[in-house]
Amino acid sequence: EKGGYEHFMLKEIFEQPKSIADCLRGRLDPKSGRLVLGGLRDYMNKFNNAERIIITACGTSWHAGLVAEYLFEEFARVPVEVEYASEFRYRNPVITDKDFIIAISQSGETADTLAAIELAKSKGATIFGVCNVVGSSIPRTTHAGCYTHAGPEIGVASTKAFTAQISVLTMMALKLGYQRGTLPESKYILMLHELADIPAKVEKALQTNDAVKKIAEKYKDARNMLYLGRGYNFPVALEGALKLKEISYIHAEGYPAAEMKHGPIALIDEEMPVIFIATLDSSYEKVVSNIQEVKARKGKVIAVVTEGDKQVKALADHVIEIPPTNEAFTPLLSVIPLQLLSYHIAVMRGCNVDQPRNLAKSVTVE
Ligand code: M6R
Repeated sequence: EKGGYEHFMLKEIFEQPKSIADCLRGRLDPKSGRLVLGGLRDYMNKFNNAERIIITACGTSWHAGLVAEYLFEEFARVPVEVEYASEFRYRNPVITDKDFIIAISQSGETADTLAAIELAKSKGATIFGVCNVVGSSIPRTTHAGCYTHAGPEIGVASTKAFTAQISVLTMMALKLGYQRGTLPESKYILMLHELADIPAKVEKALQTNDAVKKIAEKYKDARNMLYLGRGYNFPVALEGALKLKEISYIHAEGYPAAEMKHGPIALIDEEMPVIFIATLDSSYEKVVSNIQEVKARKGKVIAVVTEGDKQVKALADHVIEIPPTNEAFTPLLSVIPLQLLSYHIAVMRGCNVDQPRNLAKSVTVE
């Protein structure tokens, strides 16, 4: 049942204020300063004492893992590695019983992720699952885990599962930081309040839909697109590009914005749309210079900015405004217009949005 929406993907994009709230419900309580993650309870010692966190996943779930790398390192000061499950499983990786492995999967059935888990388990590591489908294979093989509670995701392009994964990983990082003493209590409480406000801010980010649709109209015939972001928004750039590729069949690449000058800048001409995530955060000024570099080469700039932005507005061809939040939580907002952009472009190109060619919802073969 598409609930009045034309496609499951659009329904799932618009469900995000609710799916994120469902994910936070019963876990996050800013007033009492409590963060309860039932699945962690029996493994809290292992988690607190982990010398390293290894995150393994595929596709969009791997992008959520990259966001988590920034979160865990910033708040809990634990070294994190993020691994494509398909590479990790065959690399003879160094894993010990001091490692805490987080496997992320919407379906809980991805073959490579399952195999990576088995390998890490055989080396004595603790395996924690972040999955959406209850009772699927991954939650059954991990030592412990946390469901994302996003509800069934039918569209092959992952949307609400991604934001729910980030929500769970954010709670884990804040909890770990607080317990390890690397995140001071006052800041911890502030962050909990800010996180609780995210569903309402996602609702506002969804109001960009009409503006995004107009931009989609202009760029639907592009042959290539480049997505650039820095810091917490670098994984969002990768995710935006993946969304566009998989449902519209337009070639797109995501890059950390500063890497542009090491190669991709050669692609820029008046035909090349470049999507920047240029929110007001610690890398804002640097991203602004990257936008100037693209404009100097006549590229078209579409920028996701923070409400009230002036500097980028003066440079970009189009801006999409999202509400301000703590830098660490911006991916939950900045990804929304990118999901919408790929959706509208794919519909305008007559593509089968919910079931793109050559793709399956869960990849159960390696
Ligand atoms: O079910 P999983 O999260 O393990 O799936 C991983 C990838 O196959 C998945 O995220 C894929 O990249 C999506 N089609 C992306 O939208």
